[in-house]
Amino acid sequence: MINNTNELKTKINMDKLPKHISIIMDGNGRWAEKRSLPRNFGHQEGMKRVIETVEAAYELGIEYLTLYAFSTENWKRPASEIEGLMKILIIYIRRELDKITKNNIVINILGDISELHEIPRREVEKAVERTKNNTGMVLNIALNYGGRDEIVHGIKEYLKEIEMGKVSVDDLNINSFSSYLYTKGQPDPDLVIRPSGEQRLSNFLLYQIAYSEFWFSDVLWPDFKANHLYEAIIEFQNRNRRFGGI
Ligand code: IPE
Ligand code: IPE
Ligand code: MG
Repeated sequence: MINNTNELKTKINMDKLPKHISIIMDGNGRWAEKRSLPRNFGHQEGMKRVIETVEAAYELGIEYLTLYAFSTENWKRPASEIEGLMKILIIYIRRELDKITKNNIVINILGDISELHEIPRREVEKAVERTKNNTGMVLNIALNYGGRDEIVHGIKEYLKEIEMGKVSVDDLNINSFSSYLYTKGQPDPDLVIRPSGEQRLSNFLLYQIAYSEFWFSDVLWPDFKANHLYEAIIEFQNRNRRFGGI
């Protein structure tokens, strides 16, 4: 049940905020198709929700926000849709980078951006470079990201360090392995949000979400409002996380 935005916000316990929230932004295509619009209209509308969600998380004081923007499997889509998504990414950065920088937000990329086309890649690199000395909320954008790809990439990095004699086999454990992932140095997500009615991970943060709480909703991403975020946080705060204990 969605209440008035401010009313819902006041129900959040500010002492028990999730440190790290991850969102699988899904449902843009269906949102557009329902309106007989091309899918890219859904992605454009979705970008507005990205702006609002970053703002809402920033205002709450969330420390890490991860947004799944493009998966390693999304390359299977028609070239025109991929091109549209990359254009939207460029527009988002050009429009928001000043505000993001001013708000002390750090933009961090999860995924291998070397495979992006040159213009979006340069834009992303500029955003990372401009915000790298900021000290506020970390905004992870998962771009050409896949959980399996990340794990294999991490193993390769580790093996290279063994070859160079920097580490030994016995140095590897579940904690040290985290530092070979794109989320190096960050706490694992406390809360994973997936709108659009799908209840699956779609290759998102496989290693990091071992003990995350999940919040699913039928709302499509272009209809996702700050109060959905608040609702997810409130529900998260009422969960009993045991981490295998009692
Ligand atoms: C999410 O919306 C955006 C990306 C995956 C890039 P979709 O494009 O997957 O929308 P649906 O799932 O087809 O509705
Ligand atoms: C997950 O959504 C990827 C992103 C949100 C970027 P998909 O739409 O690609 O996932 P599936 O195909 O429904 O599992
Ligand atoms: Mg989808």
